[in-house]
Amino acid sequence: MEDFSPHTRFRFPDEPDAIELRAFTHGLQPATVPSMMEHFTEDWRRFGVDAWNKVPNHWAPDSDDTVGWWTLPTYLGDEFIAPLLGAPHGSCILQPHVHWTVQCLLSAPEVRDRGAEILLPDTAFPSVLHSVQQWDDLQSFRPQIVPSTEENRVHREALLNAIGPNTAMVALSHVGFTTGARLPTSFLQRVAERAHAHDALVLLDGYHAAGSMPVDVTALGCDLYVGGLLKEGCGSSGNTFLYIRNGLELTPRLTGWFGDAAPFEFRQSPEPHPDVRRRFLGGTTAVAPMYHAVEGVRILLDLGLDTVRAHSLRLTDLAIERVDSADLSLRSPRRPAARSAMILLEVPDAHKLTAHLKAQHIYTDSRQNEVVRMAPFLWNTEADVHTTFDHIEGALASGAYRHTSVSTSGPVT
Ligand SMILES: Cc1ncc(COP(=O)(O)O)c(C=O)c1O
Repeated sequence: MEDFSPHTRFRFPDEPDAIELRAFTHGLQPATVPSMMEHFTEDWRRFGVDAWNKVPNHWAPDSDDTVGWWTLPTYLGDEFIAPLLGAPHGSCILQPHVHWTVQCLLSAPEVRDRGAEILLPDTAFPSVLHSVQQWDDLQSFRPQIVPSTEENRVHREALLNAIGPNTAMVALSHVGFTTGARLPTSFLQRVAERAHAHDALVLLDGYHAAGSMPVDVTALGCDLYVGGLLKEGCGSSGNTFLYIRNGLELTPRLTGWFGDAAPFEFRQSPEPHPDVRRRFLGGTTAVAPMYHAVEGVRILLDLGLDTVRAHSLRLTDLAIERVDSADLSLRSPRRPAARSAMILLEVPDAHKLTAHLKAQHIYTDSRQNEVVRMAPFLWNTEADVHTTFDHIEGALASGAYRHTSVSTSGPVT
């Protein structure tokens, strides 16, 4: 990516030597975000209530499309999320968080009608794993949770074998958030084939996949794909998305008047919106997050997801070389095809090593005090990877990092 100048595309922390390697938690801020937020405050001031119907199209200033706050969730779904997922026009919508979308799905009788079991691995993210267990009593779903392998990865054969006539939905993470392991397309296609043979749905959670690599929901064969824009997508919170396969009928009971067919008629009884994706709206949509939602996606699409992926692989290749030469153990997959944008390395006292690196303005994170996670991403260079590993090797050699105190300012690392 020789012609990519990250400093014109992104805004960096104040320290000039900062190396931000936590794209898996929150990406850097795109350079256009301050002006988009200024547009929000100005649209609110200038147009007031009428902004719901029409505001200038800041998202595509050169286009003839008109846009209003009312239509932004589907407009941005069509213009930015669909290309990110290789999805057709009319199939994607912005959502507030994955948790909400999963709850909506579980409330739809069309899911329950397909079977009594929701099948998922124990490595699924809590927004999915906990939601399924919480709906257990209400919809009389039985969560069928497949234990992971010793390496904490999805047990593929066990999962495939568990799909059967009682399966209503199979829910899988495209990339495992604790391992960085990416499920192969061929496996996901087999899951879809088997699930569809039993009239079950396939839901993929693509947080950590969408935005860091090309995704093609049609080729994957899934019915539903969720993910968020906070991390590799470089938006901020309040912006996730849902793709729904064309023709799939769902009438979530957890829906709101924004998902109604005639919201401003204020009828006594609800009527689902004819556009299925709109039924996943709840009450009044939060508008401000949509002003920064897709500024990172704009950069990703502009560069091309193939280019983004090639850059990410080059940097993680280099990181793995440094892991090997330092004689450290890699906890994430080694094969490029099985990798996501993050790598995990095993180190003693990982929390302290992360704190030590942070004091040098190198931002990684740690889990279970056993592994350091890092994702050298768009704005990082080979020099960033070398600097990071020079510090890691130095710290491990001297052991002095073990005296670093770990900040207790909050739970987020
Ligand atoms: C795989 C995965 N799914 C979902 C989420 C977040 O879900 P929500 O939007 O409900 O906060 C995360 C956040 O880290 C994640 O890693």
